[in-house]
Amino acid sequence: MKIFAFAGVLPLATALPSWLDLAPRQASTITVDLTKTYQTMDGFGCSFAFQRANLITNMSDKTKQRYLLDLLFNTTSGAGLSIVRNGIGSSPDSSSDHMNTFAPKNPGGPKATPQYSWDGKDSGQLFVSQEAYNTYGVRQIYGDAWSAPGYMKTNNNENNGGTLCGVPGANCQSGDWRQAFADYLVQYVKYYGEAGVPITRSSIGFLNEPEFSPGYGMNSNGAQAADFIKVLYATLQAANLTSQVGIGCCESEGWGNQVNMLNSIKSANAESMLAMVTSHTYTGGSNSPMNTKVPVWLSEQCDLNGGWTTTWYSGGGAGEGYTWANNIYNAVTATQVSGYLYWEGVQWPSPNTNEKMIKVDQQSPYNIEVSKRLWAFANWSRFVRPGAIRVATSGGSGVKSTAFKNVDGSIAVVVISTGGSASNVSIKVSGGTVTATQATAWVTDASHDCAATNVSVAADGTLSGSVAARSITTYLIPTPAPPAA
Ligand SMILES: *[C@@H]1O[C@H](CO)[C@@H](O)[C@H](O)[C@H]1NC(C)=O
Ligand SMILES: *[C@@H]1O[C@H](CO)[C@@H](O)[C@H](O)[C@H]1NC(C)=O
Ligand SMILES: *[C@@H]1O[C@H](CO)[C@@H](O)[C@H](O)[C@H]1NC(C)=O
Ligand SMILES: *[C@@H]1O[C@H](CO)[C@@H](O)[C@H](O)[C@H]1NC(C)=O
Ligand SMILES: *[C@@H]1O[C@H](CO)[C@@H](O)[C@H](O)[C@H]1NC(C)=O
Ligand SMILES: *[C@@H]1O[C@H](CO)[C@@H](O)[C@H](O)[C@H]1NC(C)=O
Repeated sequence: MKIFAFAGVLPLATALPSWLDLAPRQASTITVDLTKTYQTMDGFGCSFAFQRANLITNMSDKTKQRYLLDLLFNTTSGAGLSIVRNGIGSSPDSSSDHMNTFAPKNPGGPKATPQYSWDGKDSGQLFVSQEAYNTYGVRQIYGDAWSAPGYMKTNNNENNGGTLCGVPGANCQSGDWRQAFADYLVQYVKYYGEAGVPITRSSIGFLNEPEFSPGYGMNSNGAQAADFIKVLYATLQAANLTSQVGIGCCESEGWGNQVNMLNSIKSANAESMLAMVTSHTYTGGSNSPMNTKVPVWLSEQCDLNGGWTTTWYSGGGAGEGYTWANNIYNAVTATQVSGYLYWEGVQWPSPNTNEKMIKVDQQSPYNIEVSKRLWAFANWSRFVRPGAIRVATSGGSGVKSTAFKNVDGSIAVVVISTGGSASNVSIKVSGGTVTATQATAWVTDASHDCAATNVSVAADGTLSGSVAARSITTYLIPTPAPPAA
């Protein structure tokens, strides 16, 4: 019976006589209120750590290399990602997925002159960063160290936890390595700058999942992190870099630990030294904002269980594109994050999981498979650009909506349809000074990857368009033309 097709969108319909089905269908109206503002967006991105960047950097087929870079960073043909999260190496070697350090040798103590040797590759990440910066205009290159080099730590090993020597509770015979590690991180920024990737509005971090000691990483509690933040901040100040380089902390495995660490950082009066608070959500997320004035990034998440899928929607599985469109929606609206990053942009086929957005073979003919997770990111990242301010939306039935005012004055409205059938929406923008005269929409669903679709604009500026079943559609009202002279 046809009427059931509307059950998810208009629940009342099932109670109405079926002749009503012949009447013109009412579009539900989403109202955007430009006067009610929330967080400022830094953008969307992913990581290329653990030598995954080499899949792009080493690609001998230059057409495929460009295709991969376009998929990730191009705002017309790809996802238009605006944040790159690199791993700052701490490993003495480059075996398997180790990220090599540029200070592999203990110079003989924390006060000895460090012996840096920069290889100009940074595990393939420098090339990807240069492309992102120069070709696609990405301005947020975030370097994050999973660990300090082993000789700076209590366990004399870059892996298996251990703590930076010199922070509270971590006394080492080898001395206090805090300043040496801070110098190391600042030197990393300088190497990137010299290679044409000025870390302009970017950041460095010094931890990854510090509550967790797998075969990699460095442990830290909040008090220890706060202690090092002060050393690192002073080092950036001495290098006159605080206006260009921010500090991010602490990449916790889950939101709960990150909140605890943030509270310790606040108690130690180090919150104001942070450019952003970063957390993963593997062991738990949040449905409300973190209590901080600093922008918050959900800086890593993925589906680690697989198997690999390129599906848009098939019941809501953890790796499906529609699931990620919704994950981003929840983080941007309920948690009010300013940045949202997937784990890896690219990865080889094994393991057969969804920890990557694009699967790339390491051997010729270098097959490439693009997941719908990438296109879910595209719907946000292409249109919600760095500096955009989220504004309020209300209304709409069978849809979730969110809206943003970009720095260039354009307005992006992201609409996720939650039902199993198509519906029509109208979008009214209030609180602005300009009436929309044109708009474009892009739809992603099972059969479209950010495909342009029609949207009509009434004389009063109201947009009318349709949203496909379980789709994400982004409406963009372009920058208003300057008033006629
Ligand atoms: C990429 O090339 C580097 C040498 O520049 C090599 O060490 C590395 O193993 C290669 N990685 C991949 C994934 O091909
Ligand atoms: C992005 O993709 C468009 C369309 O394919 C292309 O014209 C453009 O050159 C690409 N590169 C950049 C940097 O935009
Ligand atoms: C510090 O950096 C700013 C720009 O970031 C520059 O204008 C200023 O001259 C620098 N000061 C010194 C002492 O280098
Ligand atoms: C949307 O509106 C169009 C034209 O007004 C109409 O033909 C179509 O049936 C409507 N679709 C839905 C799902 O209501
Ligand atoms: C947005 O997601 C839809 C899937 O609903 C996809 O078809 C579309 O291509 C995406 N839009 C962009 C601009 O990437
Ligand atoms: C947009 O509308 C035009 C004219 O009505 C039609 O030819 C075209 O197929 C439509 N495009 C889409 C993507 O629906």
